[in-house]
Amino acid sequence: MKRLGILLSGRGSNFEAIADQVAAGQIDAEIAVVISSRPEARGLEVARRRGLKTLCIPSKGMDREAYDALLIHELRDHAVDLVCLAGFMRLLSASFVRAFPERILNIHPSLLPAFPGLDAQKQALEHGVKISGCTVHLVDEFLDAGPIVLQAAVPVRDDDTVESLSARILVEEHRIYSAAIRIVLGGQFHIEGRRLIAHPRAV
Ligand code: GAR
Repeated sequence: MKRLGILLSGRGSNFEAIADQVAAGQIDAEIAVVISSRPEARGLEVARRRGLKTLCIPSKGMDREAYDALLIHELRDHAVDLVCLAGFMRLLSASFVRAFPERILNIHPSLLPAFPGLDAQKQALEHGVKISGCTVHLVDEFLDAGPIVLQAAVPVRDDDTVESLSARILVEEHRIYSAAIRIVLGGQFHIEGRRLIAHPRAV
């Protein structure tokens, strides 16, 4: 059975959606460990309540390489096959990325490469785009970069607020994250340049 490591910093709704899919047998894997960079993260509490192995490794004030070395140690210790960033609000070092080649996924609430970084939904709204969405991508050492596994689009309405747009995007986030995990976990893809090509039976 493949083993997932979840990294989160906050609410943890993407983690919950993944955990639901795992529990329903829709993702052929188990959640080996849930690690939070913040002790107050709601996602950590949710994971505890679900009886999952949780760890809090506070990142505040820590040097990036030292922090990432701790993360690598724990993820290896738990024999994690795929690392899923689920609202994990830290940029990972090149050494972390090298430790899990093509085995780290991130979800971002915009159609990348538009609006990387913080407050993506607010950026989209302020820019005036008519369509936004979300992206699941493999992680490299750059911010919200790396080959795209799946994207989903949602309309931006004239009366949208950051909250209403975020809520519409979040529904799609929960759907495509699990689908992307299935593709990557099964190794049912190859990469050509920046393009990740999912093999037909994986989609
Ligand atoms: C999600 O919208 C996710 O896409 C975003 O943080 C939120 C976490 O929600 N991630 C980023 O902006 C990463 N750059 P959650 O904790 O409920 O899953």
